Amino acid sequence: MRAITNPSFLIHHHHHPSLASAVLRSLRHRFPNFSPSLIKVRAQSSSTSHAELDNARTGRSGSLASPPTHLDVTQKIDVNPPKGTRDFPPEEMRLRNWLFQNFREVSQLFGFEEVDFPVLESEALFIRKAGEEIRDQLYCFEDRGNRRVALRPELTPSLARLVIQKGKSVSLPLKWFAIGQCWRYERMTRGRRREHYQWNMDIIGVPNVTAEAELISSIITFFKRIGITSSDVGFKVSSRKVLQEVLRRYSIPESLFGRVCVIIDKLEKIPIDDIKKELMSVELSEDAVEELLQILSVKSLTKLEEKLGSSVEALADLKQLFSLAEKYGYSDWIQFDASIVRGLAYYTGIVFEGFDREGKLRAICGGGRYDRLLSTFGGDDLPACGFGFGDAVIVELLKERRLLPELSPQVQNIVCSLDQDLQGAASSVAARLREKGQSVDLVLENKPLKWVFKRAARINAQRLIIVGSTEWQKGMVSVKILSSGEQYEIKIDELE
Ligand code: HAM
Repeated sequence: MRAITNPSFLIHHHHHPSLASAVLRSLRHRFPNFSPSLIKVRAQSSSTSHAELDNARTGRSGSLASPPTHLDVTQKIDVNPPKGTRDFPPEEMRLRNWLFQNFREVSQLFGFEEVDFPVLESEALFIRKAGEEIRDQLYCFEDRGNRRVALRPELTPSLARLVIQKGKSVSLPLKWFAIGQCWRYERMTRGRRREHYQWNMDIIGVPNVTAEAELISSIITFFKRIGITSSDVGFKVSSRKVLQEVLRRYSIPESLFGRVCVIIDKLEKIPIDDIKKELMSVELSEDAVEELLQILSVKSLTKLEEKLGSSVEALADLKQLFSLAEKYGYSDWIQFDASIVRGLAYYTGIVFEGFDREGKLRAICGGGRYDRLLSTFGGDDLPACGFGFGDAVIVELLKERRLLPELSPQVQNIVCSLDQDLQGAASSVAARLREKGQSVDLVLENKPLKWVFKRAARINAQRLIIVGSTEWQKGMVSVKILSSGEQYEIKIDELE
């Protein structure tokens, strides 16, 4: 028997040495870096019996299975999830559920209804011609029916699609929230990955900044619930109408607005000269570019008013938002910052971003008004605003501040029998408790009590219920309250 070894492939070949070499050839073709010295092929010499071969293949002896008639290739898989994606083993899942639970409860506190959309959408939904980063990061492909599809990078286009589809059948305003997985082929940094969950809250049908104020209030409510304060996190707020006003003064066509915003959003990511070049390449004059960059450095509404005059819409919106913030009682969380533009082309008014005050992390959440998104999909426009809040940066922040909750598995009872014969009795006790709404971890095999105690501690059970033969004959079981050590016998009918 000839043996060649490879970490990822084991090829079992039985009757046709020539077939083995064909496989090697095809492997070389598919994997150019493939080296035969790295693989192991088990081929049989013609004298090897079928049974012997089968045993070698299955690791069993005495197998009567007939020999395989086709080539059997076993591939050792990489046990890590694809780069940039996560598994959620129980401890991670507990954290995720805790986070989502808070997202849900806050959304419901504000009277929002939950919605969801498919993760797979038509690619066209995400194609915007404004040079957005999100477009270049799209996971897109052709399905078996030759349709161009994409894994959603965000939820907003799907929401817009559903709003258009519902048309006049819904009564406005809509207050919808969603928690969904989004996919972006990102360069991986802290808090940025290729798959993330996003909590979204959106209000459709309200043109006034009362809507933005309400959305920011809900995010702050969330922060407070999980122990984050205004000294940890702040919101930078601006309005795209500021830029729109500058563009208007330089007679730059409306159609360039989204593109200009997307370029300006890169201000902190690429050199200023590149930004200027990009802006000039969309036909902005040098003067206009200078004026735009000037205005972006403004950090107070007074200064903004000096620059733009008091009559512009941007100013009125921002002033109203800050005055509402005072009424809600969250003024210390928000600040005006004209450099906040955001990277998505569809925002038209107020834009905001949650940031950590230590400046270590990327944006925690972001959103704004998008009053003209629906018409880009052929629908009638409706005033709309919302935000997206990812599940990654917030966890980093909670870790930094040592605010991660301690979440342990929770089960009320652990039920075990003391001997094999009483396994069925233990099952009936478990069934009875579950009918009463009590959660039960039933010990499914006969295990020593020491083992059961260890397990009870690991899963945080409150009660241990032991089914032993002496008590069982009296129609009773032993109960141990694990927190106090209190122990007693109880009639099965009285077990609650
Ligand atoms: P966005 O700013 O692209 O906005 O994303 C919103 C939030 O999602 C970010 O602030 C961040 O928390 C999270 N996020 C985005 N990309 C990643 C990533 N690669 N890894 C981890 N977290 C990420 C939107 O998506 C808009 N659709 C939000 C919106 C809803 N605007 C109006 N309604």
